[in-house]
Amino acid sequence: MYYQKVKEATEFIQRRIPQVPEIAIILGSGLGEFAETIEDKIVLKYSEIPHFPVSTVKGHKGNLIFGDVKGRKVLAFQGRFHLYEGYKIEEVVFGVRVAGLLGVKNLIVTNAAGGISQFLSPGDLMVIKDHINLSGENPAIGEDAQYFGERFFDMTYAYDKDVIEKAKDVYKKNGVDYKEGVYAFLKGPSYETPSEIRMLKILGADAVGMSTVPEVIAARQMGIKVFGISCITNMTAGILDKKLSHEEVIEVSKAVEERFIKIIKDIIEIM
Ligand code: HPA
Repeated sequence: MYYQKVKEATEFIQRRIPQVPEIAIILGSGLGEFAETIEDKIVLKYSEIPHFPVSTVKGHKGNLIFGDVKGRKVLAFQGRFHLYEGYKIEEVVFGVRVAGLLGVKNLIVTNAAGGISQFLSPGDLMVIKDHINLSGENPAIGEDAQYFGERFFDMTYAYDKDVIEKAKDVYKKNGVDYKEGVYAFLKGPSYETPSEIRMLKILGADAVGMSTVPEVIAARQMGIKVFGISCITNMTAGILDKKLSHEEVIEVSKAVEERFIKIIKDIIEIM
């Protein structure tokens, strides 16, 4: 049973870390380097944690890292799971379920996303103010999910308003342009067609990507406070007259990594 598996993974981790982490963070494409800035690390490989899924994407590592950032206890997920890899949604959110059972109260989610709205450019770090789940999937579906929280739960303030307010000052302090927007979630792995992008624009999306939303839904069901940032790695199909490539996504996320790490560390300090 799924809940039992999550519990066993949680108990395994509890035996190896000295405290309940204050903040969990899921590191997206090209942001794995953040892990290097964590002090007094305890590193667990996903493969050694009972029932934990193992990542298959190039550039995604599979480590769970406990340690200190700016004097706070963090639990970093270096490597995440996507529906497009063929994982079931309950596997995609396995780490979040574990974080919840560990007693983690705050979650930071990061990802790479394509920019749809005019106000975005590649390299921007867009604070996610809301999302649109277009996958047709939801991690709270099913009998087991009810062990983690209510069946029907609020998503009005899925992305915490107070943390978003504080993030504006963090951006200012770091000299980074503050942008915020709505993230649309599609399963992928094909990038969108120009017509799909026009559709997403009409629906109110500013950016689009293939992750994060399942984790945020699972976290909210468990009452975990969420803050999210999308690294805009490219403009989406049909916005510019050129093709999209995964290499471009990796390249841009690498180029902004340092700036992204600074912002995330400061968010950790204030969250
Ligand atoms: N579309 C979907 N997902 C993405 C994109 C995109 O253009 N860029 C990075 N992740």
